[in-house]
Amino acid sequence: MADRVAILLAAGVSSRMNTKLPKVLHEVTGRPMLAYVLDACRSVGVQKIYVIVGFGADQVKERFNDGSDSDIVWVHQPKQLGTAHAVMCCREHLENFTGQTLVLCGDGPLIRAKTLQMLIEKHEAEQSAATLATAVLDDPTGYGRIIRDAYGNIQGIVEDSDCTAAQRAVKEVNPSYYLFSNQALFKALTQVKPNNVKQEYYLTDALSVMIATGHKVVAITAVRPEEAVGVNSREQLSVASKIMQHRVQQELMENGVTIVDPDNTWIDARAQIGQDTVIEPFVYVHGAVKIGRDCRIGPFAFLREGTVIGDDVVLGVFTEIKNTSLAEGVRARHHSYLGDATIGRRVNVGAGSITANYDGRTVHQTAVGDDCYLGSGVVLIAPLALKPGANISAGSVVSQKNAAKVCEKK
Ligand code: UD1
Ligand code: CA
Repeated sequence: MADRVAILLAAGVSSRMNTKLPKVLHEVTGRPMLAYVLDACRSVGVQKIYVIVGFGADQVKERFNDGSDSDIVWVHQPKQLGTAHAVMCCREHLENFTGQTLVLCGDGPLIRAKTLQMLIEKHEAEQSAATLATAVLDDPTGYGRIIRDAYGNIQGIVEDSDCTAAQRAVKEVNPSYYLFSNQALFKALTQVKPNNVKQEYYLTDALSVMIATGHKVVAITAVRPEEAVGVNSREQLSVASKIMQHRVQQELMENGVTIVDPDNTWIDARAQIGQDTVIEPFVYVHGAVKIGRDCRIGPFAFLREGTVIGDDVVLGVFTEIKNTSLAEGVRARHHSYLGDATIGRRVNVGAGSITANYDGRTVHQTAVGDDCYLGSGVVLIAPLALKPGANISAGSVVSQKNAAKVCEKK
C-alpha cells in the first residue's frame, strides 16, 4: 500500500441546517454522516485519518470515542475560515509527509469506496499532483463548478456564489473528493487567498494555484449523481437518507431478504437480517437489530435497539420490541410490546400481551422460558421469570408473587 493518509473536514458551523448538533453527527439511516466517510477511507487503506473539528468538537470526538478511533487524529480548527484553512490546520502533523493525502468532507456520506479506488488508480497512473473525482448533475446549484478548457483540461473550480452566468450553467460539479500528493498540497495552500464573495480560504483555489505553478491536476467524471450529494440543509439530509436507505435495502435483498414494499419500509444501516426472512410493509427497524432466517416481520412492526430475533420467528401487526431477545420459533402476531425481555423457544405471545417493564423509576427484566403459552391480553409485570412450559390464560396479570399460582402446566 502506498503511504496514504486522509483529511476529513468536519469543523463547519452548518448554519443552513439550523441545528445545535454538529452537522457530521446528523444521522443517515441510523449512523452519523461522518461514520460513512470514515468507512470509505478505511476501506481503501489509510494509515491515519486527520479529522478537522471545530463547532461542537467535543461532541464529535465523544461520539466516536468507542474504541474504533485508534487511527483518528483529531485536529482542532479554532475558527472556520474555509476549507483550505481547515486542511492547513494539519500542517504541523503532515508538512514532512511525502505520500498521498485524501481530502474528503464529513458532510458527504454517500461516498463509495469504489470511487475512491478509481481516484487512487487514476492519480497513480497519471502521476498527478492532484486528482479529483467529479459528477455531472441535472441541477448543479450550490456546488463548485468544474471549469475546463477547450481540450477538456481542468482549469479550476469556481464556487456557486462566485460563478459568472456562463459558469453557473456548467453541470460538472465538485463533490469534494480529492487525492493530493501531500507536498504539492501544502505548498499550494500557502498561496491561497480569501479573494471571493465569502472571503474564505477555499481548498478549491489550491487546485488553481497548482495549475498556475505547472503541476498536473486531473479530474475524472467518476461520481454518480446520487453519490455527489453534500448535506448542507435538512432537505439534503432527507435526500441523502433516502438514497442510503435504498442502498441498505439493496444489500439486504442481495443477501436473500424479501422486502415487500421498499418505499414503506425503513431499515437501519446497522441491522442484520437472515436469508429468506420476509419484511412486510410499514416495518421500522431502528438500531443494530439482528433478525434470523425464515422470519416474517410485520406489517406495522417497530423493532428497536437491542432486539435480537432467532430463526423462524413471526411478528405481526403492531408489535414493538426493545432490548429483547426472541428465540427460534416465537410467535407474536398481534399488538404486543416486549421490552427488556428474554423470550424462549416456540413461545406464543397472545394478542395484546405485553411486558410491564418500567415501574416509573427503573426498568426491569422479564424472562419467559421455552414453550410457554401466553394467552391474549397478558400483562407480565417485571421483574419476572416464567418457567418453561408455563400456560398463562387470557387476561392474566402476572407478577413474581402470583406466578406459581397463575401458571398451569400445559
Ligand atoms: C464545498 C466545496 C464545493 C463542493 C461542495 C461539495 C469549497 C470551497 N467548496 O462547498 O466546491 O461542490 O463542498 O459538497 O471547498 N469545513 C471545515 N472548516 C471550514 C469550512 C468548512 O471543516 O472552515 C467543512 C465543513 O464542515 C464541511 C466541509 O468542510 O464538512 C465543506 O464545507 P461546506 O461549507 O459545506 O462547503 P460547500 O459550500 O458545501
Ligand atoms: Ca457541504
